[in-house]
Amino acid sequence: MSKVSSNVVWHTPEVTRQDRERRNQHKGLMLWLTGLSGSGKSTLAHATEAYLHQMGVHTYVLDGDNVRHGLCGDLGFSAVARRENIRRIGEVGKLFVDAGTVVFSAFISPFRSDRQQARKLLGEDFVEVYCNSPLSVCESRDVKGLYQRARAGEIRDFTGISSPYEPPENPEIVVDTANLTLEESVERIIDYLRQQQLITLLADDDRGHR
Ligand code: ADX
Repeated sequence: MSKVSSNVVWHTPEVTRQDRERRNQHKGLMLWLTGLSGSGKSTLAHATEAYLHQMGVHTYVLDGDNVRHGLCGDLGFSAVARRENIRRIGEVGKLFVDAGTVVFSAFISPFRSDRQQARKLLGEDFVEVYCNSPLSVCESRDVKGLYQRARAGEIRDFTGISSPYEPPENPEIVVDTANLTLEESVERIIDYLRQQQLITLLADDDRGHR
């Protein structure tokens, strides 16, 4: 994107990310869920958020369908529009991480290069979670009835039908959402966070179990 705000000077804040993380007792982090429409991204993001919230973690979910009503309400589904959608989510995610939050994003984010940009922007704070559910499963569920409409030619550029989905090559976490229960899927993410010691600042063993 071109830089239009060239006369703006970065203001160094007094309260730093480290200060906020110390107060929160955990690090800021972005969990980037990617997968087809109907692969369970939102459901998994919200369920994992609920689990972490109960542990005392500061959380937020950026959800494709909701964000497209506001911040990204001006964007459609062409490759260019999706790139801009994902760019904005990466930037917003970075702010949440700076605020010391564990932020989830649940967007199809079908293009590898766009996700790569987000990864580059967030560096080690970026955790890619591939919600791996085959098209046949997502389509047979068709919770929103959109696949049927896309097949009928009523929706253009529909991911998996008339627009590609490029699966991640090296995601930190793969969740087999077609076969796992929601609880097992949440566990996959929590296990990873524990293994990588990303939520160890909290006494999570005491507070995490329901
Ligand atoms: S992304 O490709 O830019 O990441 P995003 O996750 O924000 O997509 O939005 C996807 C949601 O928009 C889908 O879950 C679906 O409900 C709706 N949608 C409407 N039109 C399309 C389309 N052409 N392709 C994919 N999803 C669409």
